[in-house]
Amino acid sequence: MAISGKTRIYAVIGDPVEHSLSPVIQNAAFNALNINGVYTAFRVKSSDVATALSGIRALGVLGLNVTMPHKEAVISYLDWIDEPAKFLNSVNTIHNKDGKMLGYSTDGIGALRALRENGAAPCGKKVLILGAGGAARAIAYSLIQEADELVVLNRTVSEAEKLSEILKRKFNKKISTGSLSPEVIKEKIKNTDILLNTTSVGMTPNINQSVITPDILKTDLTVMDIVYNPCETQLIKDAKAVGARVVNGIEMLIYQGAAAFEIWTGQQAPVQVMREAILEQNVGV
Ligand code: ATR
Repeated sequence: MAISGKTRIYAVIGDPVEHSLSPVIQNAAFNALNINGVYTAFRVKSSDVATALSGIRALGVLGLNVTMPHKEAVISYLDWIDEPAKFLNSVNTIHNKDGKMLGYSTDGIGALRALRENGAAPCGKKVLILGAGGAARAIAYSLIQEADELVVLNRTVSEAEKLSEILKRKFNKKISTGSLSPEVIKEKIKNTDILLNTTSVGMTPNINQSVITPDILKTDLTVMDIVYNPCETQLIKDAKAVGARVVNGIEMLIYQGAAAFEIWTGQQAPVQVMREAILEQNVGV
């Protein structure tokens, strides 16, 4: 749609931000649904977060995504945040609605929807999460509400323990922790339905690396990797080779973007259009 006086602005803020794929995903969705909106990227320094958000209010920018390093800092300038954002102390989506700035965290719901839409709903399943950083926390928070059992393994075990403690305080579920060693992974994977890599292992340029040796993967496993560059990581290749169900990082990216789009527009996101737009960028090829 041609830009006019009625065009609404949306953006991602972060630092750095110029490589974000969010403009590609969201503009494709606006075009597909004939929405008069434009989505761009603003590089915002940490010292400018407060003034940037005042500007967003003043200019009536309708929707924002927030990426590193501002996901926590934006919270004090918002009027309301949702439950996941409160728990995670992290906001990745802002809706400037009727003069109020509303904050959401859509990372976890993105992972949950990516699993569901790919035939691997975590309801009643045993989930093994590798990593305990920001992404792991968001995903664990969403998945634990449906899964039967959760195991968190991390290189720094104390981080996995911290995550387990805060989850246990809120949810009455079986959660255990351990190190990311091959022996522990091998033992825990025996009792796993869904395995999620949330570490950066395998990301470009280290595309031949994987957190898991292929021999311990099994057919009756769903393997999801949140690394989307390359879109088919070594872990995903190995999982495919043993006949496991796979969900790649692009899927999480799409569904977390879809959640933001739905918050801003109230319309169902055109996920296939969003997926094709990303794949056209040749991510990780
Ligand atoms: P994100 O927001 O993407 O989750 P993060 O919060 O920096 O990023 O978390 C990165 C995760 O990847 C952590 O679990 C980290 O493990 P540590 O807590 O031990 O640092 C994990 N990670 C990063 N590089 C890794 C590597 N080479 N091997 C194993 N784990 C790694």
